Amino acid sequence: MSASLIYSNSIMTQDELKQAVARAAIDYVVDGEIIGVGTGSTANFFIDELAKIKDRIKGTVASSEATASRLRGHGIPVFDLNEVTSMAVYIDGADEITDSGAMIKGGGAALTREKIVASVSKKFVCIADGSKLVETLGKFPLPVEVIPMARASVMRQLALLGGQPRLRTKAGSDEAFITDNGGEIIDVVGLSITDPVALEEQINQIVGVIAVGLFAKAGANVCLLGTSEGVKTLTF
Ligand code: A5P
Repeated sequence: MSASLIYSNSIMTQDELKQAVARAAIDYVVDGEIIGVGTGSTANFFIDELAKIKDRIKGTVASSEATASRLRGHGIPVFDLNEVTSMAVYIDGADEITDSGAMIKGGGAALTREKIVASVSKKFVCIADGSKLVETLGKFPLPVEVIPMARASVMRQLALLGGQPRLRTKAGSDEAFITDNGGEIIDVVGLSITDPVALEEQINQIVGVIAVGLFAKAGANVCLLGTSEGVKTLTF
């Protein structure tokens, strides 16, 4: 990893840090191209920044219905991924990121589409406030999207990996949360992920898993990290 820093002196709130990295990410937008756009509060700040320069890009591919609707609300074209062969860049937040660019994502339940859109993009630029940088992944519960009929069997297999799997439910209800893909989310708590690539491969092989929120085999290429000293650029 190499790092550089744009200095700032003021104490900033978490939202201000997210806004700062969202603004900095505009430097990675390639004129005339289609941009892959992530999901979550940091990605939302990025979408609002992107709206200011929307005439410079051809359009976007969205990683969730929520992102697509925010982009359209700003009058930014949203393409179906099936119409797009390749993208210069994918810009998204993370729940945790290590100093080698491995991430946990999916706190917002969009991990599968995020992984798909990122896989068609040449560069992954992660935008995150400084609290997301960790030594070891796993304090944040690891999201795994599953086919609903496989929920219990996948949970049993995930328990064998050492964590405690919990079904994600709708806020204020016992009903399962349903993703944009019709899947359910199992959050695995209590993991200490010392080999993220190996764990990603292992979980991908469990029958019934749609995607795991470990982005390690293909992690971030760049991370713009919002800190009280300014936006740090980490390159991996
Ligand atoms: C969405 O499913 C996630 O992968 C988000 O990218 C991640 O949860 C970060 O979200 P915030 O930007 O809201 O912290």
